[in-house]
Amino acid sequence: MKVLAIIGSPKKKGNSYNATREVEERMKQLGNVEFEYLFLKDVDLKMCSGCFNCVKKGEELCPIKDNRTEIENKIFESDGIILASPVYCENVSGLMKNFIDRFSFVFHRPRFFDQKLMVLATSAGGGLKETLDYLKKLQIWGFGTPVELSVATPPWPHSDALQEKNRKNINKVAEKFYQKLQEGRPSPNFMQYMHFRFLKETSKLGYLPADLEFYKDKDVYFYDTKISPLKKIFAPVIMKFAFFMMRDMEPKN
Ligand SMILES: Cc1cc2nc3c(=O)[nH]c(=O)nc-3n(C[C@H](O)[C@H](O)[C@H](O)COP(=O)(O)O)c2cc1C
Repeated sequence: MKVLAIIGSPKKKGNSYNATREVEERMKQLGNVEFEYLFLKDVDLKMCSGCFNCVKKGEELCPIKDNRTEIENKIFESDGIILASPVYCENVSGLMKNFIDRFSFVFHRPRFFDQKLMVLATSAGGGLKETLDYLKKLQIWGFGTPVELSVATPPWPHSDALQEKNRKNINKVAEKFYQKLQEGRPSPNFMQYMHFRFLKETSKLGYLPADLEFYKDKDVYFYDTKISPLKKIFAPVIMKFAFFMMRDMEPKN
């Protein structure tokens, strides 16, 4: 099993890295797991310029020349991804946010179905829930339900009780992630199926040619799987309601 840990702190040996290392230690006690660290601080991943080409026309038309595709390939080659970020002003760090922005097209065209996700946040104590809630949205990229870990690291010497609490929590979550890595592709839950139907339907409007192309041959789901008849019946009904609620957003001629 291979885990790619993407570290969103500008500090290379900071709290986010240290917590990830503890996850690594525990997972290695459980079985054969290989870890690779990718420090966003060091990789060539430039700021998004906002052209929207990646979403609209295709990621290959992004005008920025850097290592984004290499990073995407590293994700594909891994079984598990850890996204570790310090909390900055109640949310992810700028480095982590730019990483997410540069992969915006994956929100539209999910692809990481064979990878499991752990989201990890460290802070002085605040903003952990907000940050993890944001990182958890990346399940849309295909990962499915992520495992989450929050670690409070106040800027004063940690009491024995806090150290023990963090250690126990890290071990528990590391074990959960290890178990998750043993699982195959899950069959989609109702929300995941709805997400597929919604993206496929909106792609037909034709305003996002890359989406139109991506969804044209995908009739059942993003990948071959069985969808229960109940999901197939209820999804179009809810979709009709969703489109009705969005009627003011429809293009006017
Ligand atoms: C610019 C900046 C903003 C921060 N904002 C918050 C915050 O909103 N809430 C909080 O509890 N801690 C905040 N912190 C503290 C960090 O989240 C905390 O020290 C974290 O563990 C640092 O992780 P790192 O060592 O991996 O960079 C902030 C730190 C910095 C440098």
